[in-house]
Amino acid sequence: MGVAVFSSDLILAAVSPELAIERTREAFRRHEAGEWSMPSKLYLDAPPHGDFRAMPARGEGLATLKWVTSFPGNPSRGLPVVSGALLVSDATTGALLAILDCAAVTSLRTGAAAAVSASVLAAEGAAGVGLIGCGVNGGWAGRCLAAAGYGPGVCADPRAEVAEALAGELGWQVGSREEAAAQDVVVSVTPGNSAVIHAGDLRPGQHLAVLGADAHGKSEVESAALERCHLFCDEWDQASRGGELAAAVEAGLVDRAAVTEIGAVIAGRARGRGSEDEITLFDSTGLATQDLSIALAVLDVWRGGTVEAPEIEL
Ligand SMILES: NC(=O)c1ccc[n+]([C@@H]2O[C@H](COP(=O)([O-])OP(=O)(O)OC[C@H]3O[C@@H](n4cnc5c(N)ncnc54)[C@H](O)[C@@H]3O)[C@@H](O)[C@H]2O)c1
Repeated sequence: MGVAVFSSDLILAAVSPELAIERTREAFRRHEAGEWSMPSKLYLDAPPHGDFRAMPARGEGLATLKWVTSFPGNPSRGLPVVSGALLVSDATTGALLAILDCAAVTSLRTGAAAAVSASVLAAEGAAGVGLIGCGVNGGWAGRCLAAAGYGPGVCADPRAEVAEALAGELGWQVGSREEAAAQDVVVSVTPGNSAVIHAGDLRPGQHLAVLGADAHGKSEVESAALERCHLFCDEWDQASRGGELAAAVEAGLVDRAAVTEIGAVIAGRARGRGSEDEITLFDSTGLATQDLSIALAVLDVWRGGTVEAPEIEL
């Protein structure tokens, strides 16, 4: 049997930001309910350049494995930070069914996570978006938030050309980090080398979606800012070890009881935002079950005949 191969272009043609948001919301719910399984993400360091991650998941009769990089210095070589492949197998026979470009899958589910978090946690009437970091995954966060009805927004990035291109595409504005951090919904997608959200930036009622810190040692939020937020994450085990919350957990400032998984809020099993004035913070570390959910969407669209993919024999 052939193995279908999906390039980045095919995946982005098959899965709109709207569909990615719907499937990501579903992934958070299924994950938290224990309906889909996800062993721990495995990191393979490649110092000093970056790291590889192996991310397996199983659900809906499929098993997936994403082999993905985070090589923060790559843009200076003209290469993407995130690259690799996602393998999709039949969980009944073990047969390999498909190979997907993992950068497109990652961008769709990462951008969609920001939009899902805003729709679940942002204050009533929140509209303005501040995007701090407008690279590959920041761009998709912007596209997904716009698709979910948020905006206009402010795009902040030291690389003026990427901020200008994204602002132009979405009809938003280019601005400073401070201007972006003052918006209703603030999304950070930077390499996580230094804080880009400070305590002095915060104002009542904001929602923060922090996406850049997805491994040990990375952080985008000053600890004094974190202390003022009602905390949410995609998955406690992963976020407490390798996300924005990890340093605060290690320092004993944040414990399990202080953090709610977003899937529990979506399922109606946990409280979300407590008041209009509260500042909510969603720590996205990126779940393999989110990747599975996007892979399922790609296969559904392909089986529906809307996109055609080449098949190879291994
Ligand atoms: N949470 C998740 O699920 C998830 C998924 C994918 C990537 N990531 C992480 O997100 C980060 C960004 O990934 P990417 O693929 O978008 O990389 P990228 O290089 O395409 O984009 C990063 C952007 O951040 C900008 N930047 C750097 N310092 C900044 C600052 N102080 N203020 C504003 N902007 C700044 C850079 O100029 C660049 O445009 C990485 O750390 C990556 O590991 C997380």
